[in-house]
Amino acid sequence: EQKHKVTIVGSGNWGTTIAKVVAENTKEHPDLFESEVQMWVYEEQVAIPEASKLYDPSSKYSTEKQKLTTLINHFHENVKYLPNIALPHNIVANPSLQDSVKEATILVFNLPHQFIGGLCDQMKGSILPYARGVSCIKGVDVSSEDINLYSESIGKKLGIYVGALSGANIANEVALEKFSETTVAYDPPPMDSRGPTPKEGGTPRASELDLTKITEHKDSKGLTSKVRLTAQPPELPPLDHQLMHTLFHRPYFHVHVVSDVAGVSLSGALKNIVAVATGFVAGLDWGDNAKAAIMRVGLLEMRKFGKMFFENTVRTATFTEESAGVADLITSCMSGRNYRCAKMSVERGVSIAEVEKSELNGQMLQGTSTAKEVYGFLKARGKENEFPLLTSTYRILQGEAKLEDLPDLIAKPNLF
Ligand code: NAD
Ligand code: 13P
Ligand code: CA
Repeated sequence: EQKHKVTIVGSGNWGTTIAKVVAENTKEHPDLFESEVQMWVYEEQVAIPEASKLYDPSSKYSTEKQKLTTLINHFHENVKYLPNIALPHNIVANPSLQDSVKEATILVFNLPHQFIGGLCDQMKGSILPYARGVSCIKGVDVSSEDINLYSESIGKKLGIYVGALSGANIANEVALEKFSETTVAYDPPPMDSRGPTPKEGGTPRASELDLTKITEHKDSKGLTSKVRLTAQPPELPPLDHQLMHTLFHRPYFHVHVVSDVAGVSLSGALKNIVAVATGFVAGLDWGDNAKAAIMRVGLLEMRKFGKMFFENTVRTATFTEESAGVADLITSCMSGRNYRCAKMSVERGVSIAEVEKSELNGQMLQGTSTAKEVYGFLKARGKENEFPLLTSTYRILQGEAKLEDLPDLIAKPNLF
């Protein structure tokens, strides 16, 4: 009787929160999961903040900087990226990427998007061939020629199937167990649900090699290709929508599992640009009507982007009906980091990068880099004028357009 073993790759504000969610569930479902959840931590030296409840002047941890992994494993708290949240004791912080992933049958990728490419190269030889993944990364993998969902570029690099999780999920609120919803998109080739036929009558159990198949897989662009995938061993509980639900659902974190990986991933990436724009107009103190106008146009451009570049698989309803769509847009444009930092940058008359540095204590914005990446992609295709909000946000960030002109810049009728 095998069980799934889960590793979280990443331990920032959201990475640590998702580790908490998952570890609560692995403990509650010993029939399906090993209780222990490995969490890979990008190691750094951290001093316990004096404001922390952990701070004790007589303790050996009080003054010296310590390894973040040591602090997490000793105090069961991520004092730097998720302070004052008690973590389940079955989370094990591990500074070695290779060691943390080597036994995982489920890999959850959760870190700022700029780091994932390099980490995949380091993970490659260390993971189980039949591992499956879920990407919680909000961003898109863009070059001027192409755009890819992180779930798919990670999957391709590692030779495994990877789905996506995204929703209206400000990490600190989820960590405090305040109610929210999320969307998990999971659409692997059918080999896992059917499973390989176990060998009959005394022959040895199917080896890993026997489970490796060339299978047809339709990606989010609708392209069918032959991929070499290794099925999960039949002894493992089948990794289907039900299991995904069990892994992530909590009484305070309601999961809806769907198959539209493109819609879920694109929403999570593009709404960060809209949140920057909304923060900008909030910084001008233009009021809530202005913010709502930016959100409206943003939602339409998100949907249009999906239809234009992922037309074969995207469900436009994902943008308007799922937590990953409109709900994440709303929460991000009310109190997300991209919104807050953009607002402060206008109020203080400094760059958003400066605010990110001074206010976020090592947490990272995704909206500014995504604005640049998406603009580069659109420009290379001559489509930048068809997405006036996404484009103007980038140009304002660059100092090429005036924030005060935003209403006119986005007032293009009949674009949708
Ligand atoms: P974060 O903003 O807290 O980023 C800090 C993390 O980056 C830390 O774990 C740090 O160790 C790591 N890091 C720094 N330098 C690194 C390096 N060179 N290599 C590898 N890692 C390095 O991260 P987060 O909030 O956990 O965000 C992860 C993803 O989740 C992002 O795509 C984000 O958009 C998304 N997300 C965040 C929230 C939220 O509220 N924080 C909610 C939903 C989704
Ligand atoms: P920020 O990264 O802007 O804080 O957005 C958080 C988020 O994705 C909420 O769902
Ligand atoms: Ca505490």
